[in-house]
Amino acid sequence: METLEKPALTQEEQFQARIDADVRIEPKDWMPDAYRKTLIRQISQHAHSELVGMLPEGNWITRAPSLKRKSILLSKVQDEAGHGLYLYSAAETLGASRDQMLADLHSGKAKYSSIFNYPTLSWADMGCVGWLVDGAAILNQVPLCRTSYGPYARAMVRVCKEESFHQRQGFEVMQTLCEGAPAQKEMAQEALNRWWWPTLMMFGPKDSESPNTEQSMKWRIKRFTNDELRQKFVDMMVPQAEFLGLTVPDPALKWNEERKAYDFGEVNWEEFWQVVKGNGLCNADRLQARVQAHEEGAWVREAANAHAAKRKAREGVGA
Ligand code: 3HC
Repeated sequence: METLEKPALTQEEQFQARIDADVRIEPKDWMPDAYRKTLIRQISQHAHSELVGMLPEGNWITRAPSLKRKSILLSKVQDEAGHGLYLYSAAETLGASRDQMLADLHSGKAKYSSIFNYPTLSWADMGCVGWLVDGAAILNQVPLCRTSYGPYARAMVRVCKEESFHQRQGFEVMQTLCEGAPAQKEMAQEALNRWWWPTLMMFGPKDSESPNTEQSMKWRIKRFTNDELRQKFVDMMVPQAEFLGLTVPDPALKWNEERKAYDFGEVNWEEFWQVVKGNGLCNADRLQARVQAHEEGAWVREAANAHAAKRKAREGVGA
């Protein structure tokens, strides 16, 4: 009996079969345009978030309460810059242009994480940014070490190692304040009251409102959905807040024995989308600071390019 030949897989089907088999996709591999496009979107926005993420903490480097705290904060902010550079390089492997990505950030066209549009008003904010924001970043970035696109996954391995230091130093700032004078503990609580909800927004809109999650899960760009990571974050952080003797500002927060997880209140999605649209407290300042830094850094880029051109000409002549 003749055996029916199975029709050859289309390129898309072969691609999806690689994804389903957890075979990493590398820059030279064929990939659907939509896969490339959504990776450039997510990776470039991730890179922008790292760069803009330097600003809220940079604001406290000159006002750190001790030389030790100043040097820790300095190295953390420098790490964030490095994370941004890894991620811009990862996006470039997909054909994105660094200049175009930066132009999109500076013009306000590109997104970056909403969390960085909130002001850092006290030293306790440095604790919250490290403890909560970097804690959320770790929850979101550890699964990205297994994302289907090779260069992105590999960039995340190094980033996650440094994020752990970021989170630990932030928790230690909070612990020092909570074990300090009543006024210091009060400052820590006041900062938690301001940073808790904006940190929950970092994980993105509810899954039901997310236009990208379903496809990103199919392509194993995302390994967990927005709501799954948000829930993990709440379950991880509430015991830590209790250990610090702080109260999470959510009256609906309650342990659900059946789910073995915390039930928690509704995020203010109106605020979230306002901030994403550019109407947050610090959006304008953040973009202005990034544009100014880019303009003031033009001479460094020119010098580096001139040096590279000279060396190339020299090697070209010598070769
Ligand atoms: N801030 C700004 N925009 C956000 C956002 C947020 N917190 N959450 C979602 N959005 C945007 C998305 O970019 C998307 O818009 P777009 O289609 O124009 O890009 C829209 O809202 C709908 O959201 P989706 O959930 O459908 O989008 P994604 O599937 O891309 O999920 C994400 C959003 C979870 C942020 C995902 O992009 C992601 O995991 N990105 C990589 C990690 C990252 O960027 N983290 C940001 C912080 S980096 C950081 O904190 C490091 C620290 O050390 C400084």
